[in-house]
Amino acid sequence: MQIELHGVTRRFRSRNVETTALNGLSLEIPSGQLTTVIGPSGCGKTTMLAIMGLLEAPDEGEVRFDGAPVSRLGRRRRLVLRRERVSFVFQSLNLIEEISVLENVALPARYMSLPARECRARAEQALEEMGLGFRAQHFPFQLSGGQRQRVAIARALAMRSDLILADEPTGNLDRDSSAGVLEALLACRARGTTVVLVTHDPDIAELGDFVVEMQGGHVVNGRAGELSERRPAPSGRWVEAIAT
Ligand SMILES: Nc1ncnc2c1ncn2[C@@H]1O[C@H](COP(=O)(O)OP(=O)(O)OP(=O)(O)O)[C@@H](O)[C@H]1O
Ligand SMILES: [Mg+2]
Repeated sequence: MQIELHGVTRRFRSRNVETTALNGLSLEIPSGQLTTVIGPSGCGKTTMLAIMGLLEAPDEGEVRFDGAPVSRLGRRRRLVLRRERVSFVFQSLNLIEEISVLENVALPARYMSLPARECRARAEQALEEMGLGFRAQHFPFQLSGGQRQRVAIARALAMRSDLILADEPTGNLDRDSSAGVLEALLACRARGTTVVLVTHDPDIAELGDFVVEMQGGHVVNGRAGELSERRPAPSGRWVEAIAT
């Protein structure tokens, strides 16, 4: 799934303070590729993922999925679209502690009203693919950090999501666990899923087919393939880079 952000601005107001988290950001995420996003703390990475994944609407600007505008749809239609097409792998993973790993993985597919057997079969297969088949009947609290991240990825696989948005999924993990999570994301890409990965680690960022560098609510640099051919705007911001 290809995603475009056009002139996206997001402000947060609290009492007297207004923060502009995203400032007229434009960006294209190519379909079926791994795009990595890097930039200093507070530059707007998580906010951008939330808007891309339709968790939040921009104050200004537009999001498009495969060319179709989606950010101005009503709440209900946005919710359905998100459930059907987008999976999140965030640091706080929203795994439900009271149900088994298998049930966690199967749950979003259940929300899509798929038959229970189909959901279960998909969940089992996804856990196998993540090397977690042997943990299916465990509860999330019995897993390591890296295993929990892989459960979240298995959930995305079981959903057959078109888009996976991962926000520092390797943040607190040791090398081996990180490698497992990255391999899992690369396996998703190999199936044609579009993956956006936010990271603080420059070595991990380099794994991207495309590398997007952010600063102060802007994209300041986009490298590789098509992105590198686009000229920076005169202000030095790498924005308005999408063919309109
Ligand atoms: N709910 C909120 N209310 C007020 N300000 C917010 C809110 N969410 C984010 N911000 C502000 O918006 C800016 C961007 O935040 P964001 O979380 O997107 O940064 P980030 O690049 O993900 O940082 P990090 O690398 O630390 O996770 C920050 O200045 C942050 O303080
Ligand atoms: Mg963040």
